[in-house]
Amino acid sequence: MKQKSSEIHVAKVLPFSEESLTFCAKALKSDSLVAFPTETVYGLGANALSEKAAEKIFSAKGRPKSDPLIVHISFMRQAESLTNMSEFQRQCFDVLGTKFWPGPLTIIVKASNIVPKIITANGDSIALRIPANKVAQELLKQANIPVAAPSANRFGHVSPTTAKHVYDDLSDFDDLYILDHSENCSIGIESTVIKIFEKNKIALLRPGAISSLQIKSELNKEKINFEFEILQRVVKIQDIEKSANISMESPGQLLTHYAPTIEAFIVTNQSKSENFGQTFSKEFLNSSVIIDFNQKNASLMKSSLKYIDLSSRGDFDEASQNLFSYLRNAEKIEGAKYILLPDLIEQNNEKSFGVFDRIYRAASGKYINII
Ligand code: TXA
Ligand code: MG
Repeated sequence: MKQKSSEIHVAKVLPFSEESLTFCAKALKSDSLVAFPTETVYGLGANALSEKAAEKIFSAKGRPKSDPLIVHISFMRQAESLTNMSEFQRQCFDVLGTKFWPGPLTIIVKASNIVPKIITANGDSIALRIPANKVAQELLKQANIPVAAPSANRFGHVSPTTAKHVYDDLSDFDDLYILDHSENCSIGIESTVIKIFEKNKIALLRPGAISSLQIKSELNKEKINFEFEILQRVVKIQDIEKSANISMESPGQLLTHYAPTIEAFIVTNQSKSENFGQTFSKEFLNSSVIIDFNQKNASLMKSSLKYIDLSSRGDFDEASQNLFSYLRNAEKIEGAKYILLPDLIEQNNEKSFGVFDRIYRAASGKYINII
């Protein structure tokens, strides 16, 4: 759609209805961008078989082309033409896809040559996911094409869990329709990402709601032999250009990812050595928003600008659902200069890994001691 230069270029928010859903499915087919809710976060969708459409994702987000995209499909057979799997990949893909899809698991296997290079960032593998959210499913079904969709945020910012978050970040991109459904992202953090190698190895590239224990247990049940590796590699955002030449297993796993626009720190707990982390004087608490978990840092509540708990009863599912919107709310509070986050590293609970991974990145790995 051509617009006159005098017109304001803005993305359009479409309240959910059967008509707006059908409109968005057509928009995807004609290479426009459509942001839609999934059970994890909002995705910024484009026709995955069109290079022209995928280009728009990178320009709307300001995302480097070295970062490949997840392709969303509506049923497992749709993966056939997009992949060229080894025997091991096929075996694991079938077990894990059957068990966890639709759901918050992204599986990376060898791509076929019909997949545009822009989707795979010139690599030879493709990331696939079948989302569980009903709106996402209906949209994919009606569009009847594979849909590439990264999280619908400006590159490096906190992922969106509402249509408003998407609009706040991407409103100045005009060829974008945002499908607004009140039943928002119930999980609240992005999918678990695993890579199945051609032979006997699987790597966890990003923790999420489906844990590595669950994945391993399903493969063990089928008596599949495999090595499992948890990749911890993280890169600072300012080093991304340098790292563009390095073959990275998961280019999106940047340390400064999910970063709010004001500086964030993790509050160390008493058991850590006194020399650990920087020191943070109590007087700064009045310009700090404390985002807590299970009331760990409740003693700082009175001196803080604002105190809010991800889950005052210590429930990781609740914390996961709240994290991104709390971070986005915190950065907008007047007078807020810092966000102080809870340390969940010692929570020996598989469910804490995904949430703490995002907290760690939001703080760029910086810890503080409050004195
Ligand atoms: O929950 C989710 O996965 C959401 C929703 C919208 O589905 N999507 C999402 O996409 O989080 P994105 O692009 O923000 O994160 C995808 C991650 C990135 O870290 C990217 O580098 C990695 O997956 N990735 C995608 N394709 C890959 C590939 N072929 N090889 C290695 N990593 C890949
Ligand atoms: Mg993302």
